Amino acid sequence: MRRQGDARLGKDLFVKACSHCHSLQEEVHPSNPRLRGPHLSGLVGRRAGAIRGFPYSQDMRHSHLVWEARTLLQFLRNPNDVLAGTKAPYVHMKKSPDREDIVAFLQVATNPARR
Ligand code: HEC
Repeated sequence: MRRQGDARLGKDLFVKACSHCHSLQEEVHPSNPRLRGPHLSGLVGRRAGAIRGFPYSQDMRHSHLVWEARTLLQFLRNPNDVLAGTKAPYVHMKKSPDREDIVAFLQVATNPARR
């Protein structure tokens, strides 16, 4: 049986492993030099590479990927499995339960209506 991700654990993982590059707030300008990744507000259900003004890699901008639990789990395991030329750094989410916890957290935290 597949384990359900735990959003509380996912939050701690996000703060440690993701928040120095990604904001969850849309208000933070995408070119904020402190944040090297695009903001993740509204992430789940949106197309990859869709934040205006963020200098995505060509592959991410032109991909037809939609972010949902399945694609996020693959991306966190190895970004290059889903997008060959992404410039997202290899993030060491080696443990499958950690990936599931982060995705459970993202499903809540990136949805402004559910915050
Ligand atoms: C060192 C900075 C950095 C860290 C740390 C980082 N990312 Fe990223 N992330 C990026 C960059 C840069 C991109 C854009 C990649 C591209 O354009 O190919 C990105 C893209 C993404 C995207 C796609 C966003 C979109 O708008 O389509 C998701 C989802 C994502 N990262 C999730 C995560 C998660 C979850 C973590 C923590 C486990 C994480 N990232 C850690 C830099 C980072």
